[in-house]
Amino acid sequence: MNDIVQPYDVEAIRRDFPVLSTTVRGKRLAFLDTAASSQRPLPVIEAVNHYERTSHANVHRGVYELSQKATDAFEGARERTRRFLNAASLREVIFTRGTTESINLVAQSWGRSTLRPGDEILITWMEHHANIVPWQMLCEQTGAVLRVAPIDLRGDLDLDAFRALLTPRTRIAAFTQVSNALGTVLPIAEMIAAARAAGALTLVDGAQAVAHRRVDVQAMDCDFYVFSGHKLYAPTGIGVLWAREAVLRTMPPWQGGGDMILSVSFNGTRYNELPYRFEAGTPNITGAVGLAAAMDYVDAIGLERINAHEQRLLERATTALLAVPGLRIIGESAHKAGVVSFTLEGVHPHDLGTILDAEGVAVRTGHHCAMPVMDFFDVPATARASFGCYSNDADLDQLIVALARAQEVFG
Ligand code: ALA
Repeated sequence: MNDIVQPYDVEAIRRDFPVLSTTVRGKRLAFLDTAASSQRPLPVIEAVNHYERTSHANVHRGVYELSQKATDAFEGARERTRRFLNAASLREVIFTRGTTESINLVAQSWGRSTLRPGDEILITWMEHHANIVPWQMLCEQTGAVLRVAPIDLRGDLDLDAFRALLTPRTRIAAFTQVSNALGTVLPIAEMIAAARAAGALTLVDGAQAVAHRRVDVQAMDCDFYVFSGHKLYAPTGIGVLWAREAVLRTMPPWQGGGDMILSVSFNGTRYNELPYRFEAGTPNITGAVGLAAAMDYVDAIGLERINAHEQRLLERATTALLAVPGLRIIGESAHKAGVVSFTLEGVHPHDLGTILDAEGVAVRTGHHCAMPVMDFFDVPATARASFGCYSNDADLDQLIVALARAQEVFG
């Protein structure tokens, strides 16, 4: 673990991320795509390596020592996650492949067993496809209706419209905490309170939030909270569904298989206790170990400090980008995380991405799995720079120089 002292020592943090000292096309790497997937620090890489070298076997299945070690590592990661979220109980922490699987689990287990024709699901216009399509599928299966709360041209949610769309038929309101395409931080406290007052459950998509701000699911008072490890400096293929135990108890299992049962016979099957009844099959043990190490890592730095660092970069990036002729920022909320989406006049975002890559700058270009947002702003795609705990001023400077280069090429 690095030796981080006040003030925020971004260069010490960067030394924890081996990939950041590599070069791309002979250029320094300016990695500005943390919103798509964050890089992994040495403590995570080493925790995974140590587990693989010393402790791997299947979990919950063997009495032999190695299986016990693997089970301890896996269940230790569950306890670490419980603490990270301030969940009331280990029974509320379910490991999944990621945010997408967590939302599908809720839709197919809770939703499919609960919703009736005419029931309503409320989302917002700025959701990632992962928080749109599972609900559309559920509507097709149950006859429920999907309602969408509008946004405005700054990229803010219309909170009054959101409130007005809550009706006695609304069974769940599912919304993101931070928009991946716009960077907007949503007023989730107000949204959760309004949904609760209307008698609806709430699901918060924390994929773009957990690495940037402290999450306390009890204080938040939602019913479901979902996120992915790989946006929190952990490996891909591991994620979390946190759900309030009282709600989980009403939900039938989703996937069937090993580990989610107590006994199986052809006369019937008895399901396992929480949380195992929602974890069919051999889980991503290595991923869980990496996730726990990643939580230790961000907590050692301090999520508040990471957030303050990213806010400073956001401010600086916004000012510098607005000074680039022909550049339009998409998403200008006063409440934003470290994400800046933009278009550059005369340069298609995909061409822009290619030129920036030649300059060593990694940004995401495309619709960011948020096509309705692109339609709303009437753009085919945007380029998006996003920051993490390791992003620095040199990354921003490199981006600005590379944009000037793109304008030379296409100008
Ligand atoms: N959801 C990820 C992103 O925003 C992939 O880039």
